[in-house]
Amino acid sequence: MAQSERAPIGVFDSGFGGLTVLAELIGQMPGEDIIFVGDSARCPYGPRQLDEVRGFVLQICSWLVERGCKLIIIACNTATAAGLQAAQRAFPVPIIGVVEPGARAAVHATHSRAVGVIATRGTVASGAYERAIHHLDAGIEVVSLATPPFVELVEQGLQHRSGVEPAADVAELFPYAAYGSLVRETLAPLRKLPLDTLVLGCTHYPVIRHLIGEAMGPGVTLVSSAEEAARDAHQILHRREALADDAQVAVRSFFTTGGDVADFERFGSLVLGFPIGEVHHLDLPAYREDV
Ligand code: DGL
Repeated sequence: MAQSERAPIGVFDSGFGGLTVLAELIGQMPGEDIIFVGDSARCPYGPRQLDEVRGFVLQICSWLVERGCKLIIIACNTATAAGLQAAQRAFPVPIIGVVEPGARAAVHATHSRAVGVIATRGTVASGAYERAIHHLDAGIEVVSLATPPFVELVEQGLQHRSGVEPAADVAELFPYAAYGSLVRETLAPLRKLPLDTLVLGCTHYPVIRHLIGEAMGPGVTLVSSAEEAARDAHQILHRREALADDAQVAVRSFFTTGGDVADFERFGSLVLGFPIGEVHHLDLPAYREDV
């Protein structure tokens, strides 16, 4: 198994959401080769049983390890909550998730020590954010809200977007003010509370960050895990002396398990702000316990 500077970093999500983490990773480590997997065929993960999602995590990590990845980022909160620990036990490369980095960002940002978390049903049910936040500061009050319509909003919104101009900011990808009322209604239970920090606990949510920010108002700081997770990946590779040379031309390969190869190429290019080139179809067999 290759673990040299030139080995790729593996990144995966249930769909397009992980691209928000990938954008940050590329910004911080432009020379790294990357293999990205979007498990669109089985998206959304949020409503599934955590055991099932854990199986998907092990299966995709196994595929990435076989391709020689030197580090894997589970760029999905639901998948992190369901399978990070199992994957870390099963594979010999460093594997990081997005929950702990997001929790850390929230703990650093809050003054009032009242933090909201919005995420998928699976992530909220797992209690992973509460545990991660309380591990760092047991005195913080955490209120979690499952916001299942948001993943669909992002996946569909990207598909309805006309034009192919990459956006300067990922939030520009979703300019439809009409969706603002759905976002406001969904967040109503949190808007009544005296929170000063809200964790975007799903990697799809930064795409509608501006709508969430408008709904919550200027007194609430929004945090996502992308920047922190990318920084963690950098630290790990730096300490292992396995960082790629930033000046080298990176090879980035994109795979989707869905039948949406052309769509994935278009949306991926929109989210990342540059043409991602050919997207390959990845045929993963139905998950079996013995993978
Ligand atoms: N992007 C995933 C996350 O961060 C959620 C999407 C899904 O439900 O599949 O939790």
